Amino acid sequence: MALLGTLQLPGDKSIGHRALMLSLLCPGTSHIINLPPNKDVEATQHNLERLGVKFKQIKPDETLVHVPHKLTQPKEKPVILDAMNSGTTMRLLSGLLSPLGVHVQLTGDAALSKRPMRRVLKPLQEMGAQITGANNNTTAPITISPCTNSLKGLRYTLPIASAQVKSALILAGLFADGASEIIEPSPTRDHTERMLRFLGVPITSTDNTITVPGSLQRTLSPVTWQIPGDISSAAFFMVAASLIPDSHVTLPHVGLNPQRTGIINALRHVGASIELSNQKTLCGEPVGDLTIRSAPLKGDLLIHESSNPSLPSLIDEIPILAIMGCFLDGTLEVRGAEELRKKESDRIKAIIQEFNKLGIAIDEFSDGFCITGQPHRQILSPGIPLFAHHDHRIAMALTVLNAIASLKNWQKTPWPIEGREWAQVSFPHFYDSFQQLISKEEPTHGL
Ligand code: S3P
Repeated sequence: MALLGTLQLPGDKSIGHRALMLSLLCPGTSHIINLPPNKDVEATQHNLERLGVKFKQIKPDETLVHVPHKLTQPKEKPVILDAMNSGTTMRLLSGLLSPLGVHVQLTGDAALSKRPMRRVLKPLQEMGAQITGANNNTTAPITISPCTNSLKGLRYTLPIASAQVKSALILAGLFADGASEIIEPSPTRDHTERMLRFLGVPITSTDNTITVPGSLQRTLSPVTWQIPGDISSAAFFMVAASLIPDSHVTLPHVGLNPQRTGIINALRHVGASIELSNQKTLCGEPVGDLTIRSAPLKGDLLIHESSNPSLPSLIDEIPILAIMGCFLDGTLEVRGAEELRKKESDRIKAIIQEFNKLGIAIDEFSDGFCITGQPHRQILSPGIPLFAHHDHRIAMALTVLNAIASLKNWQKTPWPIEGREWAQVSFPHFYDSFQQLISKEEPTHGL
């Protein structure tokens, strides 16, 4: 039994957030093609609605965004915005809204309320933003008040590689007096830079320094954003199709931003068969079709901040890479990845705990893990309940493990996954999409 066929993936979540937020700089009507319908992006959309932006779904894959010339400040002050589970919503809106004269409070769900926010509050305060956070400026809720003077341009070296923090500073820097320079310890996804350039803003990047011109007004011209399929969603099918014998899956129109393609490079490094075709550039972002055929995965893979591929280029793919590691004819080691403990869950702990339950040997480090795979591994422990740790990517990675067990025929009864519904945070149709690739007459295979 194999995975066969073609699957259209939902739009890229990172680009979706940014298309919505950048529309705020363009009063009038922007179009967004393929805005992903997930909980995280909905959080950004609902918050912009509270500030007077209107949305209309005119086709199944096309959304109109009407942005007023003046943002509305509802009577309630501060306006309570809810980022739900979305770190991108909270951190990028902190930067975007700080210079815009609004009075808002950004809240989040229990998990987001524990995630570190000092990394974005400190540099924004240095720019002169009136922004504060709970617990001595370390966590949400975050309150933004209108500032009396313009923000000041800033030269800032990020202490950690973070596209969210970088983007927050770029967005705030656009409106500052004077240029800003943001220096990254290692390169991270550059969607914000590319999309701003597509809007005509002359952001420049040399080595690890991004220069933002400053003194922008909210007067850019509206555009049509075309959002490619999400490579982070594609990753689950890349790993599943590589490992399940006789699979042949095509994923058309996937985003191939070089700072996001680490998963392709990592899988190819251990022998995966992944072909790219129809490559082009859309709205400043590289896009192409992926064709994956099953192949023996062999060799050692060490991922850290400056490895090739680098950790930031596959930071969200570590849970599914760990599943790949179980079946690799070699060793997968991830180091320098303390940041994984601060994602939607502590992803190192989540991987270790679930693997331990299944008797899969794995070493834990404070900054990563190491697993020696077995290509013919069979995990014979039916009925053990697995736990998604309130984390979409853990829920989907464990589902791939279930599908491998079932389709390779050594585990008929899937492990129940508590919290499988967390997939809605990035990929609400994940389970149906997976089922679509399994031949119709087959049972559900734990999906
Ligand atoms: C994102 C950046 C990454 C990533 C997150 C989305 C973005 O976080 O993990 O899922 O859209 O900028 P960091 O920038 O904090 O590493």
